[in-house]
Amino acid sequence: LGKNMTHKKVMDSTQSAAHQEALHGAPNGTVVIADEQTWGKGRMDRQWHSASHQGIWMSVILRPGIPPVHAPQLTLMTAAAIADVLASYTDAEPSIKWPNDILINHKKAAGILTEMQAEEDRVQYVVIGIGVNVNHTQGDFPAELNEKATSIKRETGDHYQVKGLIQHMLLRLEQLYDTFMQSGFQPIRAKWESYGYRLGETIRIRTARNVWTAVFSGIADDGALLAQMDDNEPKKIYSGEMEWFPD
Ligand code: BTN
Repeated sequence: LGKNMTHKKVMDSTQSAAHQEALHGAPNGTVVIADEQTWGKGRMDRQWHSASHQGIWMSVILRPGIPPVHAPQLTLMTAAAIADVLASYTDAEPSIKWPNDILINHKKAAGILTEMQAEEDRVQYVVIGIGVNVNHTQGDFPAELNEKATSIKRETGDHYQVKGLIQHMLLRLEQLYDTFMQSGFQPIRAKWESYGYRLGETIRIRTARNVWTAVFSGIADDGALLAQMDDNEPKKIYSGEMEWFPD
């Protein structure tokens, strides 16, 4: 990963730039990095605050040639890679809120945006956007995010070099991607679950149609959240927002 790399001081969004590169044939493992994004994109059309040198703002192009239904597994894989890097190279204790928000002390420190281009039954390419808040201090977040968002520095008190973290991240991602391509999702799933936020606890999960109360018992082979409601097989939930009961 990263043999083919574009790095600029300022970009609108590394995600849009990576799409352009992918459309022009950029190879598997191409990485696009910006020190600052003026139009960082979050999930659900939200904006992602990406100030200069405060975090990792990068997008990775993968061409796994898998069926589109398996693409979410790559997002879970990326979350596991980010958690691994935070756990190994910082004093933060990360967890992953299903499906792919990385939390430190219950607040969101990193997010992932995966977009794919599929043709018939194969993924042509995926662009995995990774945003990790590294060196923000409290005042750097807009007031409405202060309670929900955090950075590694805010939680550990230490300043980290973005460049060094990026190198660790690319290495870890490459290792997990190799594992995924060789052995499938099983080992990735186990790793993800080792960081699972509220795993084994009673949670509330809000889907487009319902709010379920269940025990979060794990993630399925296909990346779905397993919600145990009674003695039957757990229910598989593919998209929704996890909530939980206050302690
Ligand atoms: C989320 O909403 O949780 C996902 C945030 C993803 C942000 C990253 S920063 C690098 C890449 N470029 C973007 O414009 N967005 C992603």
